[in-house]
Amino acid sequence: MDGDGRVLSSVVSSQLAAHRPYGGVVPEIASREHLASWPAVAAAALEPLGLAPRDCDLVAATRGPGLVGSLLVGLSLGKALAWALGRPFYAVHHLEGHLWSPFLSTGGEPAAPPPGALVALVVSGGHTAIFAVDGAATRTLVETRDDAMGEVFDKLGKRLGLPYPQGPLVDRLAEDGDPARFALPVPRGDGAPFFSFSGLKSAAVRQLELLERQGLESDETGLETDEPGLEPGEPSAPPQPVRDLLAAFRAAAVAQLLDRLERLHRERPFPLLAVSGGVAANRLLRRELAGWAGERGVDLRLVPLAYAGDNAAMIAFAALQRHRRGDPGDALDAEPASRIPLG
Ligand code: KG4
Ligand code: ZN
Repeated sequence: MDGDGRVLSSVVSSQLAAHRPYGGVVPEIASREHLASWPAVAAAALEPLGLAPRDCDLVAATRGPGLVGSLLVGLSLGKALAWALGRPFYAVHHLEGHLWSPFLSTGGEPAAPPPGALVALVVSGGHTAIFAVDGAATRTLVETRDDAMGEVFDKLGKRLGLPYPQGPLVDRLAEDGDPARFALPVPRGDGAPFFSFSGLKSAAVRQLELLERQGLESDETGLETDEPGLEPGEPSAPPQPVRDLLAAFRAAAVAQLLDRLERLHRERPFPLLAVSGGVAANRLLRRELAGWAGERGVDLRLVPLAYAGDNAAMIAFAALQRHRRGDPGDALDAEPASRIPLG
């Protein structure tokens, strides 16, 4: 990334194939893959630009939250580079990376200048939260009491035998379903508003068991998908009632997000909403948010699809914001952590 927040190159090395046989992320495999992949990833990012590590003025890496073994690899590399080059080092909070990602541009344009204050919805596999951001200060307005939204998409998909990560496939299948066929819960979260997705997950699994007891034939056709790492026609498409159930599940999950946004907006209208995280790729969520924001005159900044899932550009951009605010960076004894609050 250059000083205008222009993404000069972005390389994401996918580990999905290594984890797929296990149906989820295996921490030990994840750290080993990080260790094995970084030289090729760094070369692929720098060489086409004719740059070497010594040309970098700032170095950033993720501090957490996440899997400590994997974080250790990236953080140690970042610290080593910064130390060897004598450059400032930024240990970035993963969610701070997501939070600013809607301002990144694709196609080589500079990043849009982020406003001083904003409301941000971050939806991923580990987090579901709404933040109020004012300069360097971040306050949590709503967060999940149990599962994250991406997590329940993955769990329900796993129950159906879909390969990891199941979220994008559940979304794809839900496109062919009729959400009106099943009624699934949207918890109100009265009082201090919160998100809760575990009740929705259990209700969907119970409904799935009922369908299975009625005996369902799978479609012969394979699922049309362009998900990386999957062969054409793989996995096989579940029958129509299951697709209807997935549509109802997705609709209830998205309705919960919009309910909380609506309540916050009614209490204290906000002019701009930034939406990010892996689940921000969800097709229904993107459509519903656009409609909701349009009706209320809210300036919606939806993360570009290329930067919705975890990526390094968003970490560089969060570090650049800190640098622009005059933050000199972190000491080289910065440690990774599996859990770190963000306001
Ligand atoms: O931000 P991210 O890449 O990693 C974390 O920080 O967790 O988010 C990954 C999560 C996974 O749970 C994945 O299934 C989910 O985002 N996801 C989706 C979609 N695309 C990715 N969930 C629902 N619909 C999608 N289209
Ligand atoms: Zn993430």
